[in-house]
Amino acid sequence: MLSSQDLKLAAARAAIDYIEPCLKPDVVIGVGTGSTADLFIDALGSHRSRFRGAVASSERSAVRLRAQGIEVLDLNAVQSMPVYIDGADEINAKLQMIKGGGGALTREKIVASVAERFICIADDSKLVAQLGAFPLPVEVIPMAREAVARSLAQLGGKPALRAGFTTDNGNEILDVAGLAILDACLLESVINALPGVVTNGLFALRPADVALLATQDGVRRL
Ligand code: A5P
Repeated sequence: MLSSQDLKLAAARAAIDYIEPCLKPDVVIGVGTGSTADLFIDALGSHRSRFRGAVASSERSAVRLRAQGIEVLDLNAVQSMPVYIDGADEINAKLQMIKGGGGALTREKIVASVAERFICIADDSKLVAQLGAFPLPVEVIPMAREAVARSLAQLGGKPALRAGFTTDNGNEILDVAGLAILDACLLESVINALPGVVTNGLFALRPADVALLATQDGVRRL
């Protein structure tokens, strides 16, 4: 029986195999945040001479990339990226995701938006029939926290401030439980339009292109 850690490692290694053909000396790749992304970064280290560098979706991942000898570039210095590799807190069959359990959702969404392909890596416990059992993270500008929380409650959610947490952008996170996410694209747009919201953790308007989901019987590609 493979442990959760074994499964994450299998997904991370499958991602290395998947992106290998696009590693070239001038290529920059996008790298996400989380425990699965950490394993991907570690596995990427032995390939560091085959590509130019990476854009990180968090300070945490930037530190880990540098520890592997991989150059970390500013997104403003990068015009294109063939791939962005990241985990998810939930993913459905349409490859729409909830992300942001690690608090890096805004930078994740920004870096992913520049990449040609989003490769989601996870163990298959993250695959769900309907998004929303995992509380939806919403990054808010601190002065707007209570106003945004009231609006999220009107949408049917139960927002809770992530205590003692500040994002890499200096903001706060509301974790919103209890949302009925029937139309993920619509809800992503509605929440993003609330004044004071920086972004929310629904990745539906721009879902993943490929999911590499590790199971007890091998890695499944969706
Ligand atoms: C980070 O903000 C998140 O979006 C992570 O990518 C997501 O929470 C998955 O993390 P794990 O790989 O640790 O489950």
